[in-house]
This record gives sequence, structure tokens and C-alpha cells, in this order.
Amino acid sequence: MTANINLPRILRIGAGASRLLPEVLDKLNLKQPLLVTDAFIVGLGWLDTLETQLSEKGFSHSRFTGVVPDPTSAAVTAGLAVLRQGEYDCVVALGGGSSIDTAKAIAVMAHRDQPMRHYKVPNSIDDGLPVIAIPTTAGTGSEATRAAVITDTDSQEKMLCMGLGLMPIAALVDFELTLSMPWRLTADTGLDSLCHALEAYVSKKANALTDTIALAAMTAINTHIRTACQQPDNREAREAMMLAATQGGIAFSNSSVTLIHGMSRPIGALYHVPHGLSNAMLLADVTAWSISGAPTRYADCARAMGMAELRDSDTTANQKLVAGLRLLCSDLKVPSPGEFGIDAHAWQQSLELMTQQALDSGSPNNNPRIPSAAEIKDLYQKVWGN
Ligand SMILES: [Fe+2]
Repeated sequence: MTANINLPRILRIGAGASRLLPEVLDKLNLKQPLLVTDAFIVGLGWLDTLETQLSEKGFSHSRFTGVVPDPTSAAVTAGLAVLRQGEYDCVVALGGGSSIDTAKAIAVMAHRDQPMRHYKVPNSIDDGLPVIAIPTTAGTGSEATRAAVITDTDSQEKMLCMGLGLMPIAALVDFELTLSMPWRLTADTGLDSLCHALEAYVSKKANALTDTIALAAMTAINTHIRTACQQPDNREAREAMMLAATQGGIAFSNSSVTLIHGMSRPIGALYHVPHGLSNAMLLADVTAWSISGAPTRYADCARAMGMAELRDSDTTANQKLVAGLRLLCSDLKVPSPGEFGIDAHAWQQSLELMTQQALDSGSPNNNPRIPSAAEIKDLYQKVWGN
């Protein structure tokens, strides 16, 4: 078996990296970007700043600001309409995972005619306009993945789309953009990164390169996530979390996510739970259920995160892992689905649909312990009960 590793062609990481867009466009011989973001980022004035930098360097550009949370195929269609009005040769994403995934979808749909759902996994999308990603959250790692998650507006399914066309050609990873991030967003996006790293490490598709990256990300996240939440301007914590988010993206994109993400997407799609939060709701219970499939690997995770001692047996380390994840979620005020406000009856009614969508995503098959439909349903029940 050989590992297949895909990365952006250019990765600029560190303070001020977001100011390098004109230089990076020049390097890639790109002339006319369409900038994609949401109203929140526009309100911060960051899009204006980016556009001023581009204008000063003589780039022709325009903007699409219709990105929505849990990005939809309808928003992608609206962005495509803007793209097709001009002669754009690339798409620049400025924002969190929603902006980056919307930009990726617009870029790959530029020369495709079928609805987005036609191209979802297991199909592969291997070409499209180049995407330059500038993340403003330390979370999805989408700036370094060949994946995008788009909710189908008709069916409400969170569709996983994958392929080389969805890998940004360049990513400008600037932790200074996260210094203002509020507590809840910092926690949710950081927990998403933690799930990426943990799932990539225990995945059946894990490989030697993603292992090292995933472990480094887990160490950094458990060291810094509480500080980043409590001290929004702590540069050391923000820098570590931003790097870990990109590492998490690289790790899972070149390995895979597993059962947590597989079960999380349907919760997000049906109940509009922020992505990192729906992962976090599942994190401890799904991990506890999965450990028997790869006890040594999970013990490695516990030790990497400092939740277990190096000298602990795997069994002890795994007990400490589940306890440590529960404590982390408690410290970060992760609600149960009921506490989030989901109706108990609606949850019960949607068990079949969520289970089917989880299975259809393919992610459960990469889990170290592969669940049946009934076991997934049981896990959804268990998560409700906590
Ligand atoms: Fe994620």
C-alpha cells in the first residue's frame, strides 16, 4: 500500500500571511479573482481591506458575499451566477469553513452543468478553477483539504464532496485573523479540529505521514484550546490552534474522518447545530464505543493529549481518554442535543434518516470499529441521553 498525499501548492503560515494575496496571485499567474465571503466578514471590514490591497496592485476583482452557515447548494448557485458574469480565473475564499467550502464548490461547478448532488461522494471532482483560501477560524482545516460539505437545498442532506478539484491551490494561514474570535466559536471550531486529528489517527486509512501530523495537532489543541477560549488575544494559543487546524485538515484529508463526522453531518443538516458542536456532542460516546477496534491507537491519542501518562497501560489510557474528552467538552460547555434545544420527539422521528445519511456518507466504514445501522441508531439514542 502506498499513501496518497495531496496538499495545496502554496502554504503560507504565520502572522500577516493573509496580506500576501497579491504576491501569491502573481506567483500563480492569476489575474482576476472572485472573492467569496459572508456578511459577518464584510461587516468586520476585512473584505474591503483585501480588495484595497488587490486594487493597489492592479488586479481586477469582484465579490460574492452570499455565503450562509451550513453552506447550501442554493448559495453555490447564487455564487455561480456572479462568477459567470465575469472572466474570473480563480476564486478567493475569506472566512470560516462555510466560506471556503462555498468558494470551492463555486470553483468546481464553474464548468459543470448537473446539480451539485450529482457530484457528491462516491463520485470524485478532480478539476475546477483554482481556489486560494484565507481561513478566519481555527477549525475546519478546509484550506488544506480536498473536501467540501454542501447542504443540498432540496433534500437538506449535508453532502460530502471530494476530489483534487476541491484542494485549494494556495492557503494563507494567518492566526491574527482569529484574535477576535468569540469564546463559543473558538471552542466549536477547535473541537472540530480535534475530531479531525483524532479521527484521522484512528481511521482505517491512516498512514505514517498523517499519523505524525494528527498527533501533533492533538497535542497542541488540548494544550491551548482552553486558553484560546478564555484569552481571545493570547497570540501563542491562537497561533498554536491555527496551525493545529491546518494540520487537522491535512491529516483527515489524506487519511479520512470516521464515525464522529459521519454521524455529525446529519445532526447539523437537520437541526442546524454548528458543525464543531455536533461533532463534540458525539466525541466521547462514539470514541468509547470505537476503542475496542483500535485500543493501541486510541491510547496513543490519550498520551499525545496528555490525558494519560506515558507509563499507563492501553486500557488505563483509554479510560482516561474517554474521561478526558468528557471533561474537555464539559469545560467548553458542549450541550447535549436536548440542551441545545432539539425536540425529543423530532430526534426520535429522525433516527432512521440520520442513520441512513451517516451510512451513505461512507465515513463509518473508515471507523476502527464498523457499526451496523442499528448500532448507529443506538449511539444517537445514547448521545441524546447524556
Ligand atoms: Fe469537520
